[in-house]
Amino acid sequence: MRECSVVPLFILLLLNFSVSGCRANDDKSPLRMVNGSVFKIALFADLHYGENAWTDWGPAQDVKSDYVMSTVLDSEKPDFVVYLGDVITANNIAIQNASVYWDKAVSPTRKRGIPWASVFGNHDDAYFEWPSEWFSATGIPQVNPPPSISYSACTFRGTTRLELMNAEITNNKLSCSNNGPKTLWPGVSNYVLQVLSSDGSKPVLLMYFFDSGGGSYPEVISYAQALWFKQQSELLNPNAKIAEVIFWHIPSTAYSKVAPKPMSVITKPCIGSINKESVASQEAEWGIMDILTSRPSVKAVFVGHNHGLDWCCPYKSLWFCFARHTGYGGYGSWPRGARIIEVTENPFTVKSWIRMENASTHSYVILSS
Ligand SMILES: *[C@@H]1O[C@H](CO)[C@@H](O)[C@H](O)[C@H]1NC(C)=O
Ligand SMILES: *[C@@H]1O[C@H](CO)[C@@H](O)[C@H](O)[C@H]1NC(C)=O
Ligand SMILES: *[C@@H]1O[C@H](CO)[C@@H](O)[C@H](O)[C@H]1NC(C)=O
Repeated sequence: MRECSVVPLFILLLLNFSVSGCRANDDKSPLRMVNGSVFKIALFADLHYGENAWTDWGPAQDVKSDYVMSTVLDSEKPDFVVYLGDVITANNIAIQNASVYWDKAVSPTRKRGIPWASVFGNHDDAYFEWPSEWFSATGIPQVNPPPSISYSACTFRGTTRLELMNAEITNNKLSCSNNGPKTLWPGVSNYVLQVLSSDGSKPVLLMYFFDSGGGSYPEVISYAQALWFKQQSELLNPNAKIAEVIFWHIPSTAYSKVAPKPMSVITKPCIGSINKESVASQEAEWGIMDILTSRPSVKAVFVGHNHGLDWCCPYKSLWFCFARHTGYGGYGSWPRGARIIEVTENPFTVKSWIRMENASTHSYVILSS
């Protein structure tokens, strides 16, 4: 059996502290509408950095994912980026600190001085799974480490959500991410950010981020998270006058209700370009959907997780959207891209489209009507 220390690791840490970001207790301006009162967001979903680091193709995929993000960022010049979960494939990362891969994933955005926020997916804090070929010397392939092996030399428990998030926040002034209220732990990425009008006088958009579980705990948005949203939204937006958009990783069960039949052509009112699988939804629905649909201010929910889906479909008063598989890591070989969201202030609109790795665009949709 190989020691974990032989896994090659060549990491370049590119830290950039020079550009202003969004953290409230810093000397930096909050997020606000720019360039004629527009706020543009790029969603990077399912990057899956760190896959098969002990092979050639794993690291090569991360380089390609860098290229996809760079193309999208240079074509769209977004004001903000959302890392929509499965940033890393922790079950493939055989080193103690998976933050080094997380850090690679955020570096194209950081290098361009763009603030971002991230949420967790089901792979980000997963335990390392021993590849069977590591046991081939004994002729007995095993998926899990045998009980006789000592863990003292190297830890394979994965890097926890709190460790990943603390490293992101500590190392990056451009990170708007947050650990969320302790009462919602082990769900960590639960927080809200506001975007101000161009003159800074009032909030125009509230962005809610949720941890939809997976990895170290069940794939669900809990009742406690739903109540947290209810309290926050009633406090920050009592008359539901400010638009709200929602980001989490794993589609809720309600996505299945509006999904086009798998493999069928996507037809109106849904808009999208790939429909290659069934919705892989959360395990249960514990109340968040009732609360979201009761608020006319909630315009859309954005999720990743399904790499073979990129549609938006209306559901009651809001829209359900998939992002677009951005990373070369993870299953599926559909062309990579990123969902873009553009919010304008006067008149208020929320538009979306998909920007591909070859810089083409498609699937334009208006989410505010
Ligand atoms: C501002 O908006 C105009 C028109 O949409 C666009 O051509 C230009 O590239 C934008 N500038 C920046 C800095 O985003
Ligand atoms: C993991 O690495 C990050 C840098 O990517 C660093 O900030 C953090 O302190 C490290 N955590 C541990 C436990 O070594
Ligand atoms: C870009 O990629 C898409 C597939 O995602 C393809 O349909 C389109 O023809 C490509 N455009 C160019 C200019 O290569």
